[in-house]
Amino acid sequence: DPPESRTRSNPLRKSSSKRQANKDKYSVLLPTYNERENLPLIVWLLVKYFGESGYDYEIIVIDDGSPDGTLQVAQQLQGIYGAHRVLLRPREKKLGLGTAYIHGIKHATGNFIIIMDADLSHHPKFIPEFIQKQKEGGFDVVSGTRYSGNGGVYGWDLRRKLISRGANFLTQVLLRPGASDLTGSFRLYKKEVLEQLVDRCVSKGYVFQMEMIVRARQLGYSIGEVPISFVDRVYGESKLGGNEIVSFLKGLLTLFATT
Ligand code: GDD
Ligand code: MN
Repeated sequence: DPPESRTRSNPLRKSSSKRQANKDKYSVLLPTYNERENLPLIVWLLVKYFGESGYDYEIIVIDDGSPDGTLQVAQQLQGIYGAHRVLLRPREKKLGLGTAYIHGIKHATGNFIIIMDADLSHHPKFIPEFIQKQKEGGFDVVSGTRYSGNGGVYGWDLRRKLISRGANFLTQVLLRPGASDLTGSFRLYKKEVLEQLVDRCVSKGYVFQMEMIVRARQLGYSIGEVPISFVDRVYGESKLGGNEIVSFLKGLLTLFATT
């Protein structure tokens, strides 16, 4: 063999040459509302896990005019990690989670999009598993699941567990989407698939997550699942209130009536 081809088949070199040939880029969308304490750590962890995996990535922070100064913290992080890694796409005021994602997608340059919470409930250590899963099955969507395999929820009180279980159960019964976690929001999408889904999506708030997975099934997209542990936030508080629960139920019934 000429030395060249021997080098190419050397298994130790394979991964780095594969990495170079791999043009995939992952855009992570981080919606924030009052996440000043959490943002530095989540960004640091993302940089760490992406750095180790070698995949190209960008982090898009969509802050909705947080009064706690989250945007200023994000600006500092941009200074530390670079404007190609941390992108800021703020909005004037709190306009809701669903539209924050849509806003972020418009600015994403990756061919894959990862959606996750910024409060450390979703640990970046799972992202390499999402990516591997996607590559294994060529999935259109990979959904983190708390309700299958080793998945779980830590730190929620009974009320919150019941709300989540109830929302999943009702949706399973009414819409039968056949995925184990319908209200979770730690997911990886092919960008063009996500754009298609968003075009058809009518919800604005938290119900967005559920609608996306239901629409994905309707349109025949393939969904892979990765068990995740969801750990309740340490800093700050949840923005999910009674209003969001009412709009979830409205959204669910609308979907039931229209699909
Ligand atoms: N930009 C923006 N605008 N971000 C927001 C808004 C908003 O109006 N509302 C919430 N966020 C951000 C938060 O800062 C956080 O990063 C993420 O969205 C999730 O918000 P939380 O308030 O922490 O949600 P949660 O922990 O109660 O709910 C989690 O579980 C739900 C169901 O299990 C989230 O994962 C939800 O997405 C999920 O539906
Ligand atoms: Mn949270």
